[in-house]
Amino acid sequence: MRQHVNPLSRFYQSYIDIPCPEEIFANPTFPIHLDIGCAKGQFLLDFSSIEKKWNFLGLDIRSSLITFAEIERKKLGIDNLHFFFCNANVSIENWLLKLRDNQLQRVSIQFPDPWFKKKHRKRRVLQPSLLLAITSAMKPGGELFLQSDVFNVIKPMVDMIQLTACYDLRVDGKLWIEENPFNIPTERERYAQERDLKIYRSIFYRNKKTLCSSVLESN
Ligand SMILES: C[S@@+](CC[C@H](N)C(=O)[O-])C[C@H]1O[C@@H](n2cnc3c(N)ncnc32)[C@H](O)[C@@H]1O
Repeated sequence: MRQHVNPLSRFYQSYIDIPCPEEIFANPTFPIHLDIGCAKGQFLLDFSSIEKKWNFLGLDIRSSLITFAEIERKKLGIDNLHFFFCNANVSIENWLLKLRDNQLQRVSIQFPDPWFKKKHRKRRVLQPSLLLAITSAMKPGGELFLQSDVFNVIKPMVDMIQLTACYDLRVDGKLWIEENPFNIPTERERYAQERDLKIYRSIFYRNKKTLCSSVLESN
């Protein structure tokens, strides 16, 4: 089992300037899928090889994983994908402000580190400020996909998203979905599947409602 890093420690609070799409993608006009906590990036390496008319950005707080992912990406010659080392809660917001209207069309947070204890909730990856930044950058129709094998990890994330009132569920109204809609497993998803662990998944669609940041103030 890998050791989690503490995202609140001083080292991980440094801001990393993630370049704008024009500097990192061969065709910067494609819609963007952002995967937060991508680890070694296998999900994005697979997805970007199939969806050639999308750009993919993978972020992770562990630099050794990103170094590995970038080596693989370069080996495969993939030009619609990039990986960066950063603490998503420190560095994403500025990058989202660099995007063109409607460029961010999908965000995934898959099997986030399980910081169970209430006293550690500020270490969890989906903080109110990050959700607000994503919600501001996303136009109606944009997708937000979450999955985890730990109910107590995904439930507070789902609750926070619903609290914004800025996202709708699928047309069938289901909060929990059985299958991975992209049909491309992450490393942790494979691990969970091989052990028959229950996986909780939710997909949300950005609606037209205007974001009211005060609803997340108590989180
Ligand atoms: C349990 S792993 C899951 C990796 C991958 N998504 C998967 O499903 O196989 C969670 C990942 O999130 C990363 N992570 C945790 N907090 C983060 C943060 N604040 N910013 C960016 N990445 C973070 C961790 O380093 C780790 O690689």
